[in-house]
Amino acid sequence: AVERTLSIIKPDAVAKNAIGEIYARFEKNGLRIVAAKMMQLSQAQAEGFYAEHKERPFFNDLVGFMTSGPVMVQALEGENAIATNRELMGATDPQKADAGTIRADFAQSVEANAVHGSDSSESAAREVAFFFEDGEICSRG
Ligand code: CMP
Repeated sequence: AVERTLSIIKPDAVAKNAIGEIYARFEKNGLRIVAAKMMQLSQAQAEGFYAEHKERPFFNDLVGFMTSGPVMVQALEGENAIATNRELMGATDPQKADAGTIRADFAQSVEANAVHGSDSSESAAREVAFFFEDGEICSRG
């Protein structure tokens, strides 16, 4: 089915000037960018976005990292977009990510891991709505 998913290019990959290379991977693999914005997340935005991880020991570091510089946020649309994006990203820990994945090629560590992608249809719906109004999504599906 055609799905939407939420993708974030994190501060490490933005700082590396890798937005275009990562966008090319999405587009070459059937994912369309249907909404996008570059933002500097506030602490409140990062905490709200990652609220499900609030009790985790890495939460404060995660929020600190995600507010350390600009991020590029996009909604991706395509056939099986949620799983396709997760395959393109590779494992959360770049040491465990398959060769040729975004994290294997651009990420430094489990924290500075280049990209975020929604992990389920429920989180995709919540995460797309967290950043984009319905009217900001230029669906071509
Ligand atoms: P992301 O997909 O953005 O969702 C939560 C993030 O927490 C995850 O990617 C990692 O970048 C980050 N994180 C930092 N430390 C850890 C850790 N020890 N285990 C899992 N995720 C971590």
